[in-house]
Amino acid sequence: MNFGYFDDEKREYVITRPDTPAPWANYLGSPEYGALISNNAGGYSFARSGANGRILRYIFNQFDQPGRYIYLRDNESKDYWSASWQPVGKDLESYKSECHHGTAYTKMLADYSGIHSEVCYYVPLNQTYEVWHLKVTNASACERNLTITGYAEFTNNNNYEQDQVNLQYSQFITSTVFETNRIRHIIHGNLDWVKEGEEVDNKLAISRFFALTGAPVDSYCGDKESFLGRYHGYHNPVGVENGKLSGEMCYNENGCGALAAQMLLKPGETKEIAFLVGMKEHEEAEAICNRYADVAAQCETELKELTGYWHEKLEHFQVHTPSREFDTMINTWNAYNCFMTFIWSRAASFFYCGLRNGYGYRDTVQDIQGVIHLAPEMALEKIRFMLSAQVDNGGGLPLVKFTHNAGHEDTPDDASYVQETGHPAYRADDALWLFPTVYKYIAESGNLAFIDEVIPFANKDEATVYEHLKRALAFSVNHLGPHGLPAGLYADWNDCLRLGKNGESSFVALQFYYAMTILKQFAAYKEDQAYMDYLEEEQKKLGTLINNLCWNEDRFIRGFTEAGEVIGKRTDPEANMWLNPQSWAVISGLATKQQAELSMENVRKRLNTEYGAILMDPPYHLHAFDGALAVIYNPGTKENAGIFSQSQGWLILAEALLGHGDQAFTYFMENAPSAQNDRAEIRKLEPYCYGQFTEGKDSPHFGRSHVHWLTGTASTVMVGCVEGILGMRPDFGGLRIAPSIPADWDQFTIEKDFRGKHLHIVVENPEHVQSGCKALYVNEEKMEDNYIPVEKMTDQTKVRLVMA
Ligand code: GLC
Repeated sequence: MNFGYFDDEKREYVITRPDTPAPWANYLGSPEYGALISNNAGGYSFARSGANGRILRYIFNQFDQPGRYIYLRDNESKDYWSASWQPVGKDLESYKSECHHGTAYTKMLADYSGIHSEVCYYVPLNQTYEVWHLKVTNASACERNLTITGYAEFTNNNNYEQDQVNLQYSQFITSTVFETNRIRHIIHGNLDWVKEGEEVDNKLAISRFFALTGAPVDSYCGDKESFLGRYHGYHNPVGVENGKLSGEMCYNENGCGALAAQMLLKPGETKEIAFLVGMKEHEEAEAICNRYADVAAQCETELKELTGYWHEKLEHFQVHTPSREFDTMINTWNAYNCFMTFIWSRAASFFYCGLRNGYGYRDTVQDIQGVIHLAPEMALEKIRFMLSAQVDNGGGLPLVKFTHNAGHEDTPDDASYVQETGHPAYRADDALWLFPTVYKYIAESGNLAFIDEVIPFANKDEATVYEHLKRALAFSVNHLGPHGLPAGLYADWNDCLRLGKNGESSFVALQFYYAMTILKQFAAYKEDQAYMDYLEEEQKKLGTLINNLCWNEDRFIRGFTEAGEVIGKRTDPEANMWLNPQSWAVISGLATKQQAELSMENVRKRLNTEYGAILMDPPYHLHAFDGALAVIYNPGTKENAGIFSQSQGWLILAEALLGHGDQAFTYFMENAPSAQNDRAEIRKLEPYCYGQFTEGKDSPHFGRSHVHWLTGTASTVMVGCVEGILGMRPDFGGLRIAPSIPADWDQFTIEKDFRGKHLHIVVENPEHVQSGCKALYVNEEKMEDNYIPVEKMTDQTKVRLVMA
């Protein structure tokens, strides 16, 4: 069953049935002014922090209410409906609607009783307020007299928890006033004399506003109870039923913004108005409203600017393959998902409330990888930032605060850091993610000078990027376990594996091995022979160790417990087969061909399902060791044998690196949101974005997916597809093209910007192979193999690769 379709040209997902199995959301704005909106207008807004800057209220886990509601009322018949299907929820026989989620805007179209409405929600580019631009058209044959009411439910406190649970405080600090065209919602109004820096009990007066432009306000209400009416709900507010708002203002209890306008429409006539929301003081709110004197023109310009901004970013890499599901993800939705995770980290969604006031180290370093091919300059800025959050001992700060002050931060070794962030210790993998990320950035951009750029450490001192990487490696060297493999510490990639100082992680060992391969390239560039020799030697030793300790007949084990017991060996009653060590043995280059073929075959047999491969099998229940925290989850869920979406990206990459194009693509399709568009009743999650995980075969809800949008999956799948399947593998000197595609693809093309040049790439597959290059031509000149040295590239480079 589907609830909509992809409009690839407009880069929109169009929801044609509003009764989706879950709220299907979109991101507007940026965390400076963040807004989430569902296809039924549910969602919230905040300034800077989802937890501490909350403006519009949203009740989590409560069927997607409240939201940015616009009600339309026919003053003749007294019938009313909403511009989004909910909250009024008219019968879908008579109410037709579409929701168009686009790049940083969401449009709702509705047709009901001869009235067509279109509301476009967006945050203007680089602005810190939001716009609900409404067009109403009379599609009937007679004149219509409508009342249009906009409703914004303000939180009583910027802190969302105070708003939700500390009512004995937060209900007694709010008030609203009406000013010309808007409701002003004031928190701590009695402190209006207090200046910034002189807070009373850390509190200051703050204003929010909800304004109407494009039509005069006919009636208004600033009090939630008066607007809704007791024993009414969002679906039938008294204020809307009456066609006139009460004029009541809030003094204590719950404020809101409700503004109504009269709209007389001749047959065929269209009128436009806009509601505006923000956290602004009087003058600024006034200045913002004044921009909308000509609503239609202003909103049109802003929306153009916004789509222009996003589409330009996506244009840097566009692919055309025989698979629409693949193209729509790579060209628009996975790419946009990557930007959202890159920008928003894990800050705010319908599952993350914004309480995490910082960047998870590994999450963010991984997120960067998803945008490198689209916006290397944005990646660079974030890489610098993350390197500046590396401690001088080489480890990453588990949580990098939004207020990060490089050079002056405490570390997990300080009680103050632990108290402030709740992160008690280092993780084994954090800084190891820097290796592929920094490498990919330099290879894409050609910015080799970055290797010598000096960047501070989080706590003290500074060093070149090269030295930062050496320290990252040294961190692992200095945290080895009893067998000589990296200790698992507080966690590795898997937050549910607490292996401590004496337990050891094979995943980290493989990352460590891979890091050495990458660092050798940096050392070669630096002509640092002594260090190259050291790495060569150490990597050999490590490789032998991993092979001796971690290879178990047809699989790589997951590591060792603190007590020295093997995790993930064939004979374990539970969790005897794990996904990540198999894919990472390939990605890291450690696995021999034979090991790779065997273990990946084992993944197909043991872990793969129609929705992707589960993280391990069987789930933990009775045999979890201390530190195997996955046991806290229901079987088939999250790290306890769920289909952890992020790991699918590594699986795609691993199969692609092995030249198994068919299998790589199969893994892509199993878990790709777009490929499940017609199974929406099973997946439940938005068919245009990734979620953290899908319930595995041990769950009665096998195939149901969760925790939308903000997941490392976006970047790993992007890398798996672009670097793996499409085979775009830049290095310091140029671009290697090594596609690994389904044998039945005849050809595909790529439009790619690379180091200031544009590449038109055509890959032909006349012999229907899965991988391999017969010939590569650059501007008609035949290359030696499948590599394009950057010197061969011209402003418009024509590239033709023939597979065989
Ligand atoms: C979540 C975390 C991520 C972790 C993963 C596996 O997605 O955000 O950091 O690697 O779970 O535990």
